[in-house]
Amino acid sequence: MVSRALSLRFLSHIRAYRPDHIKHGKMLHFKVRSFGKEDTPDVVKIATKSTFQYCAESLESWSEHDPDGIKVAVLDSGRVIGLCAAVNHNENFSFGGTFIVLEEYRHLEIGHKLFAACFAHAGNRNIGLNSPADKLTSYKRRGFTVFEESFSSLEYECNGKLNVEPLSDQLPPKVELKPFEESHLNAMAAYDRALMGYDRKVILKANCKEANTKTLVAFKNGICVGFGSVKLNISKAARVGPLYANDPAVAEVMFKRLVDSMPEAKGFATVTISKNLAGNEMIRKLGLPVHANLLRMYTKEKLYINTSKVFCQFDVDFSPF
Ligand SMILES: CC(C)(COP(=O)(O)OP(=O)(O)OC[C@H]1O[C@@H](n2cnc3c(N)ncnc32)[C@H](O)[C@@H]1OP(=O)(O)O)[C@@H](O)C(=O)NCCC(=O)NCCS
Repeated sequence: MVSRALSLRFLSHIRAYRPDHIKHGKMLHFKVRSFGKEDTPDVVKIATKSTFQYCAESLESWSEHDPDGIKVAVLDSGRVIGLCAAVNHNENFSFGGTFIVLEEYRHLEIGHKLFAACFAHAGNRNIGLNSPADKLTSYKRRGFTVFEESFSSLEYECNGKLNVEPLSDQLPPKVELKPFEESHLNAMAAYDRALMGYDRKVILKANCKEANTKTLVAFKNGICVGFGSVKLNISKAARVGPLYANDPAVAEVMFKRLVDSMPEAKGFATVTISKNLAGNEMIRKLGLPVHANLLRMYTKEKLYINTSKVFCQFDVDFSPF
């Protein structure tokens, strides 16, 4: 009896948040379809209500990479009210993120429908995602039964300009950092492939060519030894990622120069890997506390890569590292 009273109170609380036409018992008509470029303004409005770190242009890059990888829930009026992604990276692996439904439309199973559409798109692939601690059981119930114990993803964010003065600007001997040019792509793709184990040349190119993105490529004796990008994200923050390097000293200089190259940013954001101690130490030197701790889950099996080379992740909503 007590629990029924509680659940009734809970349901009436949910009802209180619903838009008028739902409160008055009319059916909500919406459909789930693949994201299109024209959805970007609506999606950015929804995403900025939460703490997503991605950039508007990245939505388009990832949806070009996998045209049905991002699903949106859309009202008859054309207004987007939710989204979820499962971007297929290769024949065996898909990565999920961006999951959100506008607050006034929650608990109407829109989330379930978006999720189901993403699952169907991923097919038989192993799917990975990053989960906040409070969503762990919900994702486990939805099939994410393989839990990564060896690391978590640490989200760092701050408002205002990040002072990177405490970081070193001293490159190790024979290393140079060059601004991205298309002629660097083959070398970058080879470095990335050796790290990730599959080819990502198309998405790397799209990432580097996005407006509001700056990329540096590290070479030692003419061989690519890392690369990094900074982007002006949906919150107008300088979002660093990816930042991959063989040597922490190179990663530190790259990080400093990338942040400095975006003086127009109104904040800072990045995501590291907890077990890359050098990467987290670099950010601790700047006095930034961890904003959120995301846990990695998969539907079938864990991915293994050399995380000591991953200083900042590519994009926690679309990419595993
Ligand atoms: C997570 C989120 C996208 C779910 O969207 P939604 O449209 O409310 O999802 P659904 O209505 O399909 O189901 C939501 C939950 O409410 C429950 N629910 C659905 N209808 C309900 C109802 N009438 N009464 C009570 N509970 C209900 C479901 O069982 C489900 O629980 P589960 O997640 O533990 O399985 C939404 O809550 C959200 O945007 N949250 C903020 C962003 C976020 O946290 N994203 C995930 C981070 S990775």
